[in-house]
Amino acid sequence: MIFTVAIDGPAAAGKGTISKAVAARFGLRHLDTGLLYRAVGAKTLDGVDPVAAALALTPKDLDGDALRTSDIAQAASRVAVLPDVRAALTQFQKGFARATGGAVLDGRDICTVICPEAEVKLYVTASAEVRADRRFKELSAKGEAVTYDSVLADVRARDARDMGRAEAPLVAADDATVIDTSRMDIDAAVATAIAVVQAAM
Ligand code: C5P
Repeated sequence: MIFTVAIDGPAAAGKGTISKAVAARFGLRHLDTGLLYRAVGAKTLDGVDPVAAALALTPKDLDGDALRTSDIAQAASRVAVLPDVRAALTQFQKGFARATGGAVLDGRDICTVICPEAEVKLYVTASAEVRADRRFKELSAKGEAVTYDSVLADVRARDARDMGRAEAPLVAADDATVIDTSRMDIDAAVATAIAVVQAAM
């Protein structure tokens, strides 16, 4: 079976939780494509050239917990504007999406560039303030010394870079189902996504 669920949206809109829940519910593999850009961004903070880092990426570089800091998020969105970095990561993502078994991929250009043929396309979004509040709580709980205002500024800077770049900008695909989670708790958002996927199966 080949069945792809493509999920795009800005930072902290709920994509990650929704993707994991959809994958678990339908027995699909899951790829958080942001981790690829975070891993490349992290290497550039150590002085490695971004394109070289993208070409040399291996699964052991994709340690989710270590890569989820605000510095690495900003570094990720800076390398993500580079066409050669994006090109180096494309084949792996396309292969993962279309391998037998079905998959959920989440990111910024999954519906538009990586999997335009996906059976289900979702665009998960929320207001910048709601997303900053969620990310602030998440980072504070992990012990990062951040303020709400600094997180909101980071969210806005990343949105501007992701939506404004020339190559594969973040945008809702014309045929994507939009889920706005600003006034939804995460259980309701997950239930909405699962219902959309179920209807397409
Ligand atoms: O989703 P996450 O916050 O981990 O993504 C980190 C950064 O990686 C994003 O801000 C974006 O710049 C970049 N990214 C991308 N395309 C993707 C996934 C992530 O450009 N498919």
